[in-house]
Amino acid sequence: MIPLPDSIRFRELGESYAAALAELEAVCFPNHGWSAEDMRNMFSQNAFRAYGLLEGSGLAAYTTLFHVADSIEILNIGVLPERRCQKLGRALLERVLRREAETGILRAFLEVRVGNTPAIRLYEGLGFVRTCRRRGYYADTGEDALLYELALPQPL
Ligand SMILES: CC(C)(COP(=O)(O)OP(=O)(O)OC[C@H]1O[C@@H](n2cnc3c(N)ncnc32)[C@H](O)[C@@H]1OP(=O)(O)O)[C@@H](O)C(=O)NCCC(=O)NCCS
Repeated sequence: MIPLPDSIRFRELGESYAAALAELEAVCFPNHGWSAEDMRNMFSQNAFRAYGLLEGSGLAAYTTLFHVADSIEILNIGVLPERRCQKLGRALLERVLRREAETGILRAFLEVRVGNTPAIRLYEGLGFVRTCRRRGYYADTGEDALLYELALPQPL
């Protein structure tokens, strides 16, 4: 597992982080991020989880997901632009996948735009396997979606 710098802590995030999550999401997804109100609505659903890497009181990285039976669907992941390419995305997902596996989750699913090379490298580096391509899936650009799946290593 990639070690975290001393200044950074991994933790699950509750509803009090809705505004901070929306702020980082707006930076990472300028045209289609969720608002703070969207985030608060998501926290009202039992299946929703959010995790982050905190630096001081600020969010350096986050990911959101849904539980669906014994699987998780990763909804989004984002890292502060000035903190990218420092393995924080990988460090965050490694910790999230381990935490979820410890609670009995067996598989993780996600989808990504075909042109999002950094994200694809991140997911493939973690062992995600491409299962399907959905042509023209994203309405805003007409880009294809790639679907990925990972069987989570089960704790002994
Ligand atoms: C995708 C994202 C989360 C990656 O986070 P990150 O912390 O920069 O990634 P890491 O430093 O952990 O790197 C993980 C892998 O991606 C690769 N990578 C990261 N940025 C890259 C870039 N700009 N170009 C090519 N590869 C890149 C790294 O080289 C590394 O691969 P390796 O293990 O083979 O060396 C980040 O770029 C981001 O927030 N992007 C905007 C939001 C987004 O697109 N989210 C994904 C939606 S599906």
